[in-house]
Amino acid sequence: MKQHTRPYRWPAPLPGHTPHIWYGADYNPDQWPESVWDDDIRLMRQAGVNIVSLAIFSWAAIETDDGVFDFDWLDRVIAKLYDAGIAVDLASATASPPMWLTRKHPEILWTDERGETVWPGARQHWRPTSPVFRRYALRLCEAMAEHYKDNPAIVAWHVNNEYGCHNHFDYSDDAMRAFQRWCRHRYGTIDALNKAWGNMFWAQRLNSFDEIIPPRFVGEGNFTNPGRLLDFKRFSSDALKSFFIAERDTLARITPDIPLTTNFMVSAPGASLLDYDDWGREVDFVANDHYFTPGDAHIDELAYSASLVDGIARKRPWFLMEQSTSAVNWRPVNPRKEPGQLIRDSLLHLAMGADAICFFQWRQSNAGAEKFHSSMVPIAGEHTQVFRDVCTLGSMLGALTDEGLLGSTVRQAPAAIIYDADSQWASEHTATPNQKVRHWTEPLDWFSALADHGINADVLPVRAPWDGYDTVIVPCVYLFSEEMAHRLRSFVKRGGHAIVTYYSAIADEQDHLFPGGWPGLLHDVAGVRVEEHCPLTDLYPGALDHLDLSNGTTAHDLADVITGVEDGTRVLATFTAPEHTGMNGLPAITVHPYGEGALAYVGGKLGKDGIATSLPEILDALGIAYTRTGTGDLLRVVRTHSDGTTFEFTFNRSRDMTVDAELHGEPVAASYAETTGDGTASLKPNGVVVTAHRP
Ligand code: GLA
Repeated sequence: MKQHTRPYRWPAPLPGHTPHIWYGADYNPDQWPESVWDDDIRLMRQAGVNIVSLAIFSWAAIETDDGVFDFDWLDRVIAKLYDAGIAVDLASATASPPMWLTRKHPEILWTDERGETVWPGARQHWRPTSPVFRRYALRLCEAMAEHYKDNPAIVAWHVNNEYGCHNHFDYSDDAMRAFQRWCRHRYGTIDALNKAWGNMFWAQRLNSFDEIIPPRFVGEGNFTNPGRLLDFKRFSSDALKSFFIAERDTLARITPDIPLTTNFMVSAPGASLLDYDDWGREVDFVANDHYFTPGDAHIDELAYSASLVDGIARKRPWFLMEQSTSAVNWRPVNPRKEPGQLIRDSLLHLAMGADAICFFQWRQSNAGAEKFHSSMVPIAGEHTQVFRDVCTLGSMLGALTDEGLLGSTVRQAPAAIIYDADSQWASEHTATPNQKVRHWTEPLDWFSALADHGINADVLPVRAPWDGYDTVIVPCVYLFSEEMAHRLRSFVKRGGHAIVTYYSAIADEQDHLFPGGWPGLLHDVAGVRVEEHCPLTDLYPGALDHLDLSNGTTAHDLADVITGVEDGTRVLATFTAPEHTGMNGLPAITVHPYGEGALAYVGGKLGKDGIATSLPEILDALGIAYTRTGTGDLLRVVRTHSDGTTFEFTFNRSRDMTVDAELHGEPVAASYAETTGDGTASLKPNGVVVTAHRP
């Protein structure tokens, strides 16, 4: 298991201040005349803002020409912030290179899979493997660190910004050479690489590492080598990481006492771009950006993503670097947040282990590509519901700080749900049984289905220690290593309960399919053998467009053809289908006792509702005691302190109903909820109550 390369360090309060839940935003004063700055500070104080992320996109304003630095404006704004008691999370300012740089060195621009080079005109138009870009970016890091090394306002470094948001994949010649080096390091010999990538297929055998090219355009409708593609995704995460490490180390050399982070995008857009669990070992504290999913999944997706961030942070407090107060402007349609959601969402991140709640951005831009994106101060000004909510949230965070929330950690849930970036990446390949089947959505369905029964789960990266949980859920974990199989087997043997779904343990780490049926490496413990996949599609109306299960649920998109069932395996549900399909009566859900524990296998995509319906029986058959501890209308998360104090966050999880809740402890914060004084509360839609209980 990978170790942290740096000790955990959290931004310390400004001199003379006491620790406080950090509250603030990205602040872009360079977009505004200086006359606006004093008004910004007045409103920040009114809102209780105590930190801002500064200069993220300010390269052109700081280094106005090659080697010409202007820190005056930044010094002035930092001084104003400091005087107002507002700390600075200072960016390296390297996220968006200025025009003078790209004109002089167009070779720093990234290239797409067809060899087209991007033009400047937006942001993040640089390639991480360019030695030229690295030289310029590191010079800026050095200049920033030298200039601000003794400035007491700076409490953290915000290195670059959302690595890979726009430059995730670069197919340039620089990238090619770096990819060749990466492959040489990983495989040692070209024969080993040929084997790993299955290069005897379609005459792709290589004679030397110099022949390696990134997965460039292979023609519409053609299929690129999956082994190479998976490694290119791993390489792309590593290439950006190595660039981050170079920036980080340049800053850290000059300012060793300032903690550093960079903002991850753990669930955007719908899956991890980078291997954030791996990156999590390289930062002093984990920071994440999260943008809500409009519609019914809003609260669950937020809780699920935030739980994964907590898992990446290994339950140490983390920093919510960005979220929106209301609408974003980068979806085709950009719904606003409903009343109450600004506060509810923020408190949900807090419940899931964040000790800092920040937004993109402080003041809504009136020009530029994000002018329709909501902010703490809307374009409509301070006399708005958003700004009133921002102020209310500021006071709540103050109250929660006073109550002692800081530094408490999220109580371990009974169940762990595994997330694996590699499995997501591999399952994205275009030649699969059904393109509708990916890794990412399955863990979320399980998270939501458990929540329907009032059961909490921690979402954990595959490398995290999940062995200490009562139950572990392995949802479409497509890639399986020997080590993972060994861990799971010993976990069950020792008395653990596992739930493994379809499309798990299909291939090894190189995406070579396991021979002999699935789940590969797990036959003995799973007690079933899957011989083939049965994709479900509208091409077979009334037959295999879906499959009904004998327990009343329905599988869509993919079902397993389970032909072997070991002695002792209990079949909980079978498929019911027309006889000619060959699926009628085949096992769909099974439970197999193994050692002191048991493993349930779910052989089809049941969706959130199907899982929720099947869960009580699965949990009973596994011998799990915590079935149906709640109604699902409430989501409760507990943070605990070493002194025994607990903070319970109770959320109305229903879409549109008012829900009554019994409270445990004294109410210390509430929004869209009324506490009655007799230990209960009535929570409106989007409502939340926080209670504290002291030993
Ligand atoms: C990202 C970026 C921000 C901003 C927001 C808008 O998270 O880091 O600069 O563009 O998206 O949602």
